[in-house]
Amino acid sequence: MIVYEDTKAALLEQRYGSQQKPANIHWNSQVEAMLSHCSVRTFLPKALPDGALETMVAAAQSASTSSALNQWSLVAVTDPELKHQLGQTIARTVPTDRIPWIEDSSALLLWVADASRSAAITLEQGGDPIVLNYLDSFLMASVDVTLAAQNASLAAESMGLGIVFLGVMRNAAKEVAELISLPPFSFVAFGMAVGHPDPSHPGGIRPRPAQPVVLHHNRYDQERYKQYLEGYEAACLQFRQSRDMSEKTWQGAVLASTTSMDYMGGRENLRAMVEEKGFKLS
Ligand SMILES: Cc1cc2nc3c(=O)[nH]c(=O)nc-3n(C[C@H](O)[C@H](O)[C@H](O)COP(=O)(O)O)c2cc1C
Repeated sequence: MIVYEDTKAALLEQRYGSQQKPANIHWNSQVEAMLSHCSVRTFLPKALPDGALETMVAAAQSASTSSALNQWSLVAVTDPELKHQLGQTIARTVPTDRIPWIEDSSALLLWVADASRSAAITLEQGGDPIVLNYLDSFLMASVDVTLAAQNASLAAESMGLGIVFLGVMRNAAKEVAELISLPPFSFVAFGMAVGHPDPSHPGGIRPRPAQPVVLHHNRYDQERYKQYLEGYEAACLQFRQSRDMSEKTWQGAVLASTTSMDYMGGRENLRAMVEEKGFKLS
């Protein structure tokens, strides 16, 4: 197999900046595709190519699924009016009038953690779906849909499309569920905007912390990340400066994410909404 050393070095440089990089990566086309990921938030006004959605779904369905229960669904919103309505619903939860990457996407994919089929199939057979009352069932469907979506994102990127995940769809989980007629025992875990990347606004590969921050061997080392923070801040700063983004630190962003209720944007109501949908989270 041909290994494109220049591509490998360039991608590792972008992913880690001047931080310590793993020297022993087993490079191949799949790994290269994964390391090339960056979120895309500017799309050309074009429909998805024929078969792109089906390719993404086949990739999504090829992800592992807990106990082969297939507890996820995808609602692909391509109707411009509905996409606009969903975009506006979410925009109202954040300080903006319009979220362009939602409204300008070729498709707004709503990834549904979905135990509704399990519930219906159980009831049809005269069973009582008591297991669905437990938090683990909720988590199982949430994990399944996340794995499926990640596979779909890689398939999309392999076709030259761009994606961005949209946790912000949970800001108005109840309204979103109503707009797409979700049944009981299901909820939109997150959205994903997909479309043709606008070449005049290319996404950038966003750095990640050096591997020892996330990789522990045998036992968790709680203190170790601290010695890598400076290097990660430098990589993040370089990324932000290269893209004319405001200068804020990663640790500052972490702090804001854990201390400001603005960060929640309505997601503080998620438990009530999920319980309304039938999950008891016991
Ligand atoms: C579950 C999840 C939810 C996300 N939600 C949003 C979102 O609502 N809006 C947004 O612009 N980006 C969202 N993102 C994208 C992240 O901001 C992005 O992945 C992160 O900044 C790293 O950048 P990269 O994907 O370009 O590597 C989300 C990502 C994930 C995994």
